[in-house]
Amino acid sequence: MTVAIIVAISSNGVIGRDGGLPWRLSTDLKRFKALTMGHHLIMGRRTWDEVGKPLPGRRTIVVTRNAELEVPSGVHLAESVEEALKLAKSDDEPFVAGGAEIYRLAMPMADRYYLTRIHAEIEGDTFFEPDFKGWKQAFTEDHPAGEKDEYPVTFEVWERVG
Ligand SMILES: NC(=O)c1ccc[n+]([C@@H]2O[C@H](COP(=O)([O-])OP(=O)(O)OC[C@H]3O[C@@H](n4cnc5c(N)ncnc54)[C@H](OP(=O)(O)O)[C@@H]3O)[C@@H](O)[C@H]2O)c1
Repeated sequence: MTVAIIVAISSNGVIGRDGGLPWRLSTDLKRFKALTMGHHLIMGRRTWDEVGKPLPGRRTIVVTRNAELEVPSGVHLAESVEEALKLAKSDDEPFVAGGAEIYRLAMPMADRYYLTRIHAEIEGDTFFEPDFKGWKQAFTEDHPAGEKDEYPVTFEVWERVG
């Protein structure tokens, strides 16, 4: 199993604002969909609150301390990232999809990052900055801003070394 983290980060480390994403980046959403299709999505309860429904073609696992949390059928609860990964054990590449609290917990277990670097300083209240010491960059691709993409971005893939 390859544990993947998928995250978009502004140049000042912002990943969220007011419970949501403070940018409009259609190409990034398409990439998220293409990469995660058919896989498990592991997310924190606050990110789940924002997403609000299971995303088609993917199995959602919500990490929460609240075992009574009401979720639609087909969505699973886990009391830790470790438990979420056990629930996803049939998947060759489960995706940890945020937010900051869950990224921090998952970091030591991750083998791969799909990182979108957003080339703009953006105001926000939720931050995450991975430390890539001990990782190597496996892929990089630049995309300009456009009609549906507010900012230029670079798509990067990072792999743990060793
Ligand atoms: N830019 C991106 O790629 C990206 C991706 C995803 C999310 N986001 C953004 O990130 C923000 C949300 O991030 P966040 O850090 O506030 O919240 P989060 O990580 O989505 O969820 C936090 C919740 O996870 C549960 N949790 C945390 N630690 C736990 C533990 N050790 N054991 C069990 N459950 C635990 C708790 O749920 P309970 O309170 O229910 O116990 C906690 O309230 C939003 O703005 C969202 O839009 C950005």
